[in-house]
Amino acid sequence: MTTLLVLDGDGLLHRQVYRALRAAILDGTLTPGARLPSTRALTRDLGLSRTPVVLAYEQLLAEGYASARAGSGTYVAHTLAARPAPARAVEPVRATVPRLSRFGRRAVESARGLPSWRLRDVALPYDFRYGRPAYGDFPHEAWRRVLARCARRASVRALDYGPTEGLDRLREAIAGYAARARAVRCEPDDVLIVNGSQQALDLAARVLVDPGATVVLEEPHYAGARRVFEAAGARLRSVPVDADGLRVEELPRAARLAYVTPSHQFPTGGVLPAPRRLALLAWAERAGAWLIEDDYDGEYRYAGRPVESLQGLDRAGRVLYVGTFSKVLFPALRLGYVVVPHALRRAFRAAKGLCDTGTSTLEQAALAEFIREGYFARHVSRSRLRSAGRRTALLEAVHQHLGSAAEVTGAEAGLHVLLWLRGVPEARLPAIVRAAEAAGVGVYPVTPHCRQTPRDAGLVLGYASLTEQSIREGIRRLGRVIPRPER
Ligand SMILES: Cc1ncc(COP(=O)(O)O)c(C=O)c1O
Repeated sequence: MTTLLVLDGDGLLHRQVYRALRAAILDGTLTPGARLPSTRALTRDLGLSRTPVVLAYEQLLAEGYASARAGSGTYVAHTLAARPAPARAVEPVRATVPRLSRFGRRAVESARGLPSWRLRDVALPYDFRYGRPAYGDFPHEAWRRVLARCARRASVRALDYGPTEGLDRLREAIAGYAARARAVRCEPDDVLIVNGSQQALDLAARVLVDPGATVVLEEPHYAGARRVFEAAGARLRSVPVDADGLRVEELPRAARLAYVTPSHQFPTGGVLPAPRRLALLAWAERAGAWLIEDDYDGEYRYAGRPVESLQGLDRAGRVLYVGTFSKVLFPALRLGYVVVPHALRRAFRAAKGLCDTGTSTLEQAALAEFIREGYFARHVSRSRLRSAGRRTALLEAVHQHLGSAAEVTGAEAGLHVLLWLRGVPEARLPAIVRAAEAAGVGVYPVTPHCRQTPRDAGLVLGYASLTEQSIREGIRRLGRVIPRPER
């Protein structure tokens, strides 16, 4: 047998001998109970020194592939299940499709056709990719200092598991901020820290949605939310939006839950007016439905004060308010929060504990200090001011270079707009996207965020991460690839 032993030539000699013997055992060339050659014989046959062979045998013994009998040698372990000897002709390996749970199948299905968050390998100079915040405005140096300070000061105790619901000091800081800036009515104890708002949605689905339950989505809507409820097996019910957001009068009579973006409808940008907010709350009470308010970029409103949250108007405890630091700071932080109605607190904490025991505490501690020391508030107001400049640059450039070929909606707030290409059918979008890309411009169809194909082709344009100059140039280039309406 020793002459058949082939070393793969990769790395340390004793590992090579070990791998060759283990392979012979696993593929049945050496059957259970078979005697291995003596280390002396193998040393001779392989032309090696003795040490690598002895070390390889010790490793096989330690891992239970072989057992030693005093005075008689080393044997392949009897306890290994017998394996068939290798077939002469190697059969082609057939890809097997694993059997998934119903949830697993729905999760896979829900991702179909959606773009990934992964960045392009080669960056485009004018990338209007949605979801990228104003990286240039972020006070990187201050954040690094605060983070380093928290890491230095961390005691052994701080290395332990943190509380599932999040660090008290961050929950206090968030409760204060949400109350001041967004008129959210809450105590620190109502705040649950999560790994981004995506996790808040996932927890809500786990805690509130059984397969077959009706979940209301805006049409169009945020695809990340749709995925969650699809994977949960919900029966989705689309309610259209207009320039003012959700058309509340078209809500169904009953539903388990409605996912809404009242401060800045995603992706069309409408801001839900007060009468519709009150009607929505009244509907939730009547329908026995929970409302998830996703306030993903409520900090950015360019005219007047930021609109106050829906949760602040809720007197029946039916609104779950979801906030995130992905837009206002940066998404890799993976920190968000959900203000949970009292009646759901225990269930949400239990579900969060099941998911991941709790969110990483170092970043939580750093963020609490970042807020307490005023960096956060300064950053928000500075970034809002600069984003207003970028927004103006975008609107002017669209007017100048696209004219009547396009219409912008949703520019009053947030970090993106929706650009409707009037009279251009959706089917032409892939070619437009490719032509834009060839010109160095990244643009992204609204279609993944729709359940029904919209009448006109639409592009979601995120502009926060670009300079005013790049925005103007990017739109100028886009103007060259967008078809003009026929007169
Ligand atoms: C409307 C909306 N909600 C939620 C999210 C997810 O944010 P997070 O990074 O907090 O999971 C996004 C991300 O782009 C979003 O656009």
